[in-house]
Amino acid sequence: MALVTSTEMFRKALASNHAVGAFNVNNMEIIQGIVDAAKAEKAPVILQVSAGARKYARPAYLLKLVEAAVLDSGIDVCLHLDHGEDFEICKKCIDDGFTSVMIDGSKYPFEENIALTKKVVEYAHARGVVVEAELGKLAGVEDNVSVDERSAKFTDPMEAKEFVERTGVDSLAIAIGTSHGAYKFKGDPYLDYERLKEIHALIPDTPLVLHGASTVIQEFVDKCNEYGGEIPGAQGVPEEMITEACKYGICKVNIDTDLRLAMTAEVRKYIKENPKEFDPRKYLAAGRDAIQGMVQHKIRDVLKGSDTL
Ligand code: G3H
Ligand code: 13P
Ligand code: ZN
Repeated sequence: MALVTSTEMFRKALASNHAVGAFNVNNMEIIQGIVDAAKAEKAPVILQVSAGARKYARPAYLLKLVEAAVLDSGIDVCLHLDHGEDFEICKKCIDDGFTSVMIDGSKYPFEENIALTKKVVEYAHARGVVVEAELGKLAGVEDNVSVDERSAKFTDPMEAKEFVERTGVDSLAIAIGTSHGAYKFKGDPYLDYERLKEIHALIPDTPLVLHGASTVIQEFVDKCNEYGGEIPGAQGVPEEMITEACKYGICKVNIDTDLRLAMTAEVRKYIKENPKEFDPRKYLAAGRDAIQGMVQHKIRDVLKGSDTL
């Protein structure tokens, strides 16, 4: 049991068309729910920390909580920085003991993204840490762009090949139609599988990463709304579309919104149904259980990752 890189996890995932779940963590209950789920499903797991999570929980707490999860569960965990925006935050996390970092240079022109990614790769690889980069832009409905404008920002397959060759990056996040948050599509959900297949054919050994891969599970949206929430019109990527993407090189599937919805739904329900209760452990335990159940479902039914440890 240890903090490990994602190298071995991705090697197995690539070879057998399943994917590793990468779940965003912000507090103890979320970490426990996810790690208990991974242990129950005998599946590898990536816990990822965003800049926002570092700000909320503070870096030392998250690091120690994840170390505690490894100790308590006895399973290996990959600890990953999600959307590192510059070299400095990547360096900090590498120096702290993260086993994987993402440098997100997707907002920069191609050559600048390459230069920044290379700098992080050099620093990380010298210390045994793996690196994810991103090419292409994830556009959400909130960006108010047309379908054509949206796909113009999708990852270019030839650029992806050149990018991976020139940076030496370990995995690549691509844009094929997903976006962050609970409002991903206005009409029918759409992923550009042809583009994904083309990218995978050009760089078959590179694990591909799907950001914005939450499904926005209706049961949890309905429960949030039933118990006092207001989340109208939320829509994510249908689960069968994620499973399909895992056949063409997607090895890492990023999920945050579904965690937020699951936890909030059950906390809302608990508080509403138990008005006399004011022990935070009670409603946080309900949230933690919801996360464990949801993550087990993702690993087993969507990512097909059970028994792959
Ligand atoms: O990619 C975004 C993740 O959902 C993290 O969100 O920046 O609010 O922590 P956050
Ligand atoms: P969701 O908002 O779809 O959960 O995506 C999370 C993500 O991509 C984190 O990097
Ligand atoms: Zn993301």
